[in-house]
Amino acid sequence: MKKMKLVIKIGGHGAEDPKGRKDLARQIAALHKAGHSVVVVHGGGKILTRTLERMGIATEFHQGLRVTDAATRDVAMMVLAGLVNKQWVAELENMKQPALGLCGGDGSLVRARKLTVGKNGSKRDLGFVGRPHKVKTTVLDVALRGGMIPVVASLGVSARGEFLNINADDLAAALAVALGADRLLYLTESGGVWDAEKKLLPVVRVGDIRRMIKEGVVRDGMIPKLLSCARTLRQNVGEVDILSTTVPNALVSAINKGKTAGTRIVKGS
Ligand SMILES: Nc1ncnc2c1ncn2[C@@H]1O[C@H](COP(=O)(O)OP(=O)(O)O)[C@@H](O)[C@H]1O
Ligand SMILES: [Mg+2]
Repeated sequence: MKKMKLVIKIGGHGAEDPKGRKDLARQIAALHKAGHSVVVVHGGGKILTRTLERMGIATEFHQGLRVTDAATRDVAMMVLAGLVNKQWVAELENMKQPALGLCGGDGSLVRARKLTVGKNGSKRDLGFVGRPHKVKTTVLDVALRGGMIPVVASLGVSARGEFLNINADDLAAALAVALGADRLLYLTESGGVWDAEKKLLPVVRVGDIRRMIKEGVVRDGMIPKLLSCARTLRQNVGEVDILSTTVPNALVSAINKGKTAGTRIVKGS
């Protein structure tokens, strides 16, 4: 069996439901034990939104990206780099799998640049939202060499030493490119990409993504996810899949049997 470099991005309810979390941790630990180099990236958008709500802070999204003022950014650090990150570390630990919880700001892993969206006249500043600009994988290599799975929360630090919130799909893609990963796997609630009738598509071509976004078939958080898939496939990442967080064993099947229960994103148009 080929030993692969895998980047696994966990999203949706998988990060929240205790049973789902256990099952995912078991699969991730199994892949590591089988000899693959596994790097985990997580967001935690839903729990972050609920926490902000409890603090009386409203949430706004723009094209699937969270508009992030200073207060939202600080809560994002607490919830993502704190609670969610350490829950995953504990879950892996529970599977007898050592894990190193960090965020993009640790070990110079991800240098971020402030993101602005839109064109010329309609440029929109989303606040403390970053995109990965430079990735230094040393801290990931050190963890992996020490038998630990790195678990990365989706924040990075700017050149001015300021924390920026990064869409977790973008961060996973940047790590996959920097590592030259064999596979990038997005686990998400929808279980893959739907067509206009909400039927799961087994394959999506990179060349179709822009059109699907323009036609409104692909919306919300699926927009940055698919754009990040396209970016990685244009570089040196072998294969990109979007899978269900909740289908039992979906992750291990995708790796060991080559069976993708969700959507495979492929080059071409
Ligand atoms: N065409 C589509 N196919 C699948 N999901 C879509 C589509 N358009 C919009 N979505 C929404 O995008 C969501 C995934 O993005 P997001 O909410 O950011 O989840 P994640 O935590 O996995 O990043 C899906 O759960 C779904 O509600
Ligand atoms: Mg998302």
